[in-house]
Amino acid sequence: MTAQYQVHGDVAIITLDNPPVNGLGLATRQGITDGMAKANADAAVKAIIVTGAGKAFSGGADIKEFGSPKAMQEPNLNSVISVLENSAKPVIGAIHTVAMGGGLELALGCHYRIAAPGAGIALPEVKLGLIPGAGGTQRLPRVLGAEAALNMIVSGEPVKSEMLVMLPGQKLFDKLSVSAESLAEEALAFARSVADVRPLPLVRDLKCKHPQGDAYFQFARNMVKGMSKNFPAPAKCVDAVEAATKKKFDDGMAVERELFIHLMWTPESKSLRHLFLAERAASKIPDVPADTAQRAINSIAVIGAGTMGGGIAMNFLNAGIPVKMLEMKQDALDRGVATIRKNYEAQVKKGKLKQDKYDQRMALLTTTLSYDDLGGTDMVIEAVFEEIGVKEAVFKELDRVMKPGAILASNTSTLDVDKIASFTKRPEDVVGLHFFSPANVMKLLEVVRGAKTAKDVMATVMSVAKKIRKTAVVSGVCDGFIGNRMIEQYGRQGGFLLDEGCTPAQVDKAMEKFGMAMGPFRMGDLAGNDIGWAIRKRRYQEKPNMKYSKTADLLCEKGRYGQKTGAGWYDYVAGKRDAIPNAEVVAMIEEHRKSLGITPRKISDEEIVQRLVFSLVNEAAHILEEGIANKASDIDIVYIFGYGFPAHRGGPMNYADQVGLFNVVQAMNRFAQNPLDDAKFWQPAPMLARLATEGKTFN
Ligand code: NAI
Repeated sequence: MTAQYQVHGDVAIITLDNPPVNGLGLATRQGITDGMAKANADAAVKAIIVTGAGKAFSGGADIKEFGSPKAMQEPNLNSVISVLENSAKPVIGAIHTVAMGGGLELALGCHYRIAAPGAGIALPEVKLGLIPGAGGTQRLPRVLGAEAALNMIVSGEPVKSEMLVMLPGQKLFDKLSVSAESLAEEALAFARSVADVRPLPLVRDLKCKHPQGDAYFQFARNMVKGMSKNFPAPAKCVDAVEAATKKKFDDGMAVERELFIHLMWTPESKSLRHLFLAERAASKIPDVPADTAQRAINSIAVIGAGTMGGGIAMNFLNAGIPVKMLEMKQDALDRGVATIRKNYEAQVKKGKLKQDKYDQRMALLTTTLSYDDLGGTDMVIEAVFEEIGVKEAVFKELDRVMKPGAILASNTSTLDVDKIASFTKRPEDVVGLHFFSPANVMKLLEVVRGAKTAKDVMATVMSVAKKIRKTAVVSGVCDGFIGNRMIEQYGRQGGFLLDEGCTPAQVDKAMEKFGMAMGPFRMGDLAGNDIGWAIRKRRYQEKPNMKYSKTADLLCEKGRYGQKTGAGWYDYVAGKRDAIPNAEVVAMIEEHRKSLGITPRKISDEEIVQRLVFSLVNEAAHILEEGIANKASDIDIVYIFGYGFPAHRGGPMNYADQVGLFNVVQAMNRFAQNPLDDAKFWQPAPMLARLATEGKTFN
């Protein structure tokens, strides 16, 4: 049973009981309507309370039903709400902890609502590219006024119940309980106090007019324009709320329905719903059960206080986990600590961090020059120079000093984690934790699972990732792991495009129009072009037959490494991040083109986007086939959270699915005909070719 029915004297209580957040799945909806029928049939019952067990009133739709026909099966949410509204006996919603989405819409169908302080109230559908679909856009404006309701609907952000009761004229809550603990008792008393009231108040009967309606909604449309550039939903929220102020309730409901159904079918909403599920799925590892016992991580050590070490340390300090940082020399430690201070102080200055929080965080940070001081920590993350010899020395020391059961992690971005593990006598405790720069900002964490990494180590680091608010994706061991292995192909295509006739600015613009946070050349300038150069030099040795454009090497030979040298593909003014096109770089590209005897051609934005994105997709298909990634949606998460891939496209794999894998393969076959491109690379990965012929998708 996912909804309980009890009678307390003359009051019936229907308690949603569908952990973790009382999602309104079919069985729960059925449970509510069954309870309503019993209560209305029982002459002893005078009033009915609807509430939630455990950690929520209701978090809304049941994600297990997402996109399945069950979600719409009768009684659907609108029918349940009608049952509440049409009840002959008063229905009181007793709301605590969380009332979101369908949960709040359900509450709005009750005759009365009593809320506990601290409850998070929201209509977050916009975050999935939708508008509320069970009357939320029509009922919330009636109880909060159009402006407050629209703010909540457009932002999707939760507002605390005690804030909402302070809104003048609000009718959302009839009462705020003294405390969360007293809610049940107070709801019972309230139910008895309204047991005889007739007619029963209905939200749908309330008036909702805006005095300057036209001007206000015009203003609101302009406000949401920025946020709806790639997303249609925010503008539709405005339309729906406007309908609430201008139409009769049932007509407004029809508008909401029509807009909701339209949005359900947009690629943007499909992409956002895909990402919502993908993010939840990423934390699950097929052969590591959810109940795997975890190791306790109450303190950590970080080796190396450079760019990455400092950022990694901050993540743990932010989460209240003590960090001991080790360096070889005192001045390196001092510099590392100073950078952490500087970062926090900037946050304090901007008002994003309170001084006392800053002090608390810094108090959790200690430093040392001696490995012997690390023995007490539960986990260590190494972020020293990217040289296997240095890693070897460090891991031998760690093996000597760390207590049994401690987790030994490396932040290496290119080295073989299995090799690093072999430097210790406990390879089962070794794992890769590949953070992205800046490590205190970027959400992505690639967890690199070595051949011998223990399952409980995997389970532990996945849960540590959650604690430090990272989105973790598991990658097997390979050169570049998931993200950088794919980006290498993307970079190679970028080079070919320059050779064939593009400028860096043209390529970047096309990709930014597609939605990338940054085109490939601006990204190279940000990350440092010397990094790619070093990798290519290695590749020239390892894979002498692999085709590369030499343009990027020529750029690096000029010392144009990017933002850090003030010049890369573009010029930069000190302290600013604006990329200013440079005529010399363009001339250098043209000259190189000439030396290769290439006549430049005009390349369309569409070709640029397809070659770059499909290069990611083809490499990703190999990665999937090799088992480096567990599932296609993990790859989407890597690109959304680590590489600025546009959320409204849902990641490269989801995008390929939307384009159609048959079309993707056709395009690849076309690219393979281009003598200046790499025909061998464009052979569709076997998995991709198979899915395309079978008419299937990755996800
Ligand atoms: P960095 O050069 O800024 O910092 C390395 C620090 O390690 C220096 O402060 C150095 O003094 C210290 N160090 C070197 N050898 C040591 C030893 N034996 N014992 C203790 N400390 C030692 O380098 P960065 O960029 O922080 O990179 C560190 C690691 O993170 C590398 O493995 C790199 O591949 C990886 N990484 C770097 C990313 C980036 O964007 N910079 C992104 C992801 C991973």
